Amino acid sequence: MPEPATPATPVTFPPAFLWGAATSAYQIEGAVREGGRTPSIWDTFSHTPGKTAGGEHGDIAVDHYHRYRDDVAMMADLGLNAYRFSISWSRVQPTGRGPAVQVGLDFYRRLVDELLDKGIKPAVTLYHWDLPQELEDAGGWPERDTAYRFAEYAQIVGEALGDRVEQWITLNEPWCSAFLGYASGVHAPGRTDPAASLKAAHHLNLAHGLATSALRAAMPARNSVALSLNSSVVRPVSQDPADLAAARKIDDLANGVFHGPILHGAYPESLFAATELITDWSYVEDGDLRAINQPLDALGLNYYTPALVSAADNDLSGPRADGHGSSEFSPWPGADDVAFHQTPGERTEMGWSIDPTGLHELIMRYTREAPGLPLYITENGAAYDDKPDPDGRVHDPERISYLHGHLAAVRRAVSDGADVRGYYLWSLMDNFEWAYGYEKRFGAVYVDYTTLERTPKSSALWYGQAARTGTLPPVAVAE
Ligand code: FCB
Repeated sequence: MPEPATPATPVTFPPAFLWGAATSAYQIEGAVREGGRTPSIWDTFSHTPGKTAGGEHGDIAVDHYHRYRDDVAMMADLGLNAYRFSISWSRVQPTGRGPAVQVGLDFYRRLVDELLDKGIKPAVTLYHWDLPQELEDAGGWPERDTAYRFAEYAQIVGEALGDRVEQWITLNEPWCSAFLGYASGVHAPGRTDPAASLKAAHHLNLAHGLATSALRAAMPARNSVALSLNSSVVRPVSQDPADLAAARKIDDLANGVFHGPILHGAYPESLFAATELITDWSYVEDGDLRAINQPLDALGLNYYTPALVSAADNDLSGPRADGHGSSEFSPWPGADDVAFHQTPGERTEMGWSIDPTGLHELIMRYTREAPGLPLYITENGAAYDDKPDPDGRVHDPERISYLHGHLAAVRRAVSDGADVRGYYLWSLMDNFEWAYGYEKRFGAVYVDYTTLERTPKSSALWYGQAARTGTLPPVAVAE
């Protein structure tokens, strides 16, 4: 059941809790040809006809590259004490190999200094999907060398920013990079090759492990290294053994394929069985699992909606729910016998059902899966069709209610023993939503795409009050 809109007792968080917002480089920066930056796979993909809604791309995005000072000031005005952003690899190391470009690193140094100056704790994500195009041309994530290139890039950024950034995230949602990028093709680089997607998954795991070691060697020991997974909360439509088996298979392909090697040093045997007709996994070399299974300082969880599955021959078969766009190619290699269903209840503009119980379930699962590991919610939020009223204000009560429900679920998990240290709302401001272009607005801050003017929505004011007081305001307060 969704959380009640306004609970009887105030929902108060521990004093050190981080109240942040998240963004990623390609979605906000623009300035794609400045400072020696070269194209990433997202530049190429978004400029390929038919790949994004309306052919939209991130050439200008919300021009954060030039407006970062104002954006940081806006966060400070709202009352946020943390900000998660990503580094554009091809801004820092344009060919994906060799020496860094100082202009690129300087941009991020200035951004971090601005944040620290305003008392906002930076969390850096090294990879939020924008592989330098040159590395894709050399084979991309299905190619083993890409993992070594990533470790080299991690070392460069760790050396440049490790003195001032404590919180590090290697990869954002490797599931999307591997399976939306190389299997269903709805994300860059848009390949539709199931065998390549599983190879990509392994090399992303290897990249994470090698980068974790490289960061540790390059930075002060106090810094924290984590990664952000979009682990799925997978629910079977019934307790029928065929539906339970379908849920287990999707759990392997969504979750076990990453947390197996990263947290436990092994891929699930059932994953090998499910994918045996597609790949023999012979690219998992001796020593890889040890390299991947590095101790972490924290784990980031991104959550939006649960997945509801059944065996494919179940009568309930309905529309696919694959997240960021649909394609005739499945992002689930080896799972043609599984059907996805619309989860019941209210939905956001993405068509994703609103279910805070899934967030609670996810947190409790990783509390068991990785005992003792601090957790952060590194993304959670909702898209709505926000529009300014005649006075120019943007009222988004649905988003306030979404945030309230999910933050209350986080608090409930903390009461149930989970060590959740912070929450990053996706997203600080409206931005380029990948294959959907600019049509889906996830921001707490509204962006007018003609003038690029920023206007905090009522949810931003609500969230800012939560951040300043450590207590969730009633849902109606900012209206
Ligand atoms: C996540 C992505 C983020 C954004 C949200 C809506 O999967 O990490 O960039 O697209 O979904």
